[in-house]
Amino acid sequence: MRIDVVTIFPDYFTPLTCSLLGKAMAAGLIEVRIHDLRTFTHDRHNTVDDRPYGGGPGMVMSPVPWGEALDEIAASGEGRQPILVVPTPSGAVFNQHAAQAWTTDPWLVFACGRYEGIDARVAQHYASNAGWAGVREVGIGDYVLAGGEAAALVMVEAVARLLPGVVGNEASVTDDSFAAGSMAHLLEGPVFTKPQEWRALAVPEVLLRGHHGQIATWRAEQARLRTALMRPDLAAVSPELGLG
Ligand code: ADE
Repeated sequence: MRIDVVTIFPDYFTPLTCSLLGKAMAAGLIEVRIHDLRTFTHDRHNTVDDRPYGGGPGMVMSPVPWGEALDEIAASGEGRQPILVVPTPSGAVFNQHAAQAWTTDPWLVFACGRYEGIDARVAQHYASNAGWAGVREVGIGDYVLAGGEAAALVMVEAVARLLPGVVGNEASVTDDSFAAGSMAHLLEGPVFTKPQEWRALAVPEVLLRGHHGQIATWRAEQARLRTALMRPDLAAVSPELGLG
């Protein structure tokens, strides 16, 4: 999968070279290219923003450098068509289902806005542009960040770890909270490792007996309890709880 990111803070993306994603990049499973939006400006101050039409607080990102940056990126694909992802709190919700669906997209381009956001004509233009496979305006949660960079990092990590070969143990991805499958609406329950007793706290006895059926039943029950406690909203729609 190829991932391009356009930002005025290229340094924000150095964490991508760490850990799992760094290894996936080194192994050629994902290719990440970071672009500085300011290199697509032509004035002395490398201006990327301007006052909003209609008035109001803050500044809006100009469509002009965005158009130049995105056109250049699409042209580098030798006929392949990228999908434009615009992180924004006013977008559709990005969740595990979306992360899974995006794993089959060969090329994602993240446009990270700052200030009050990117001039709306950018998303509009690329949604109907023959060189592009579509536009997705997405938010990672019901809160407002200072810009799209942190959200892009979250989305890249959520998608990349699902790509075949990125996480060593396939089951650690399929057993996740929210992962597709019979437990899709349940949170993952507690996990334990050695020592068997730590600060007077014992590992639940059922996990020590080696009876796989009993362990599976116990884990399913723990997942139900945790979901009801932590996420009553999910519990209300969970078929596993028999309420939805
Ligand atoms: N930019 C600012 N807040 C955001 C959010 N919650 N999700 C995605 N992008 C954002």
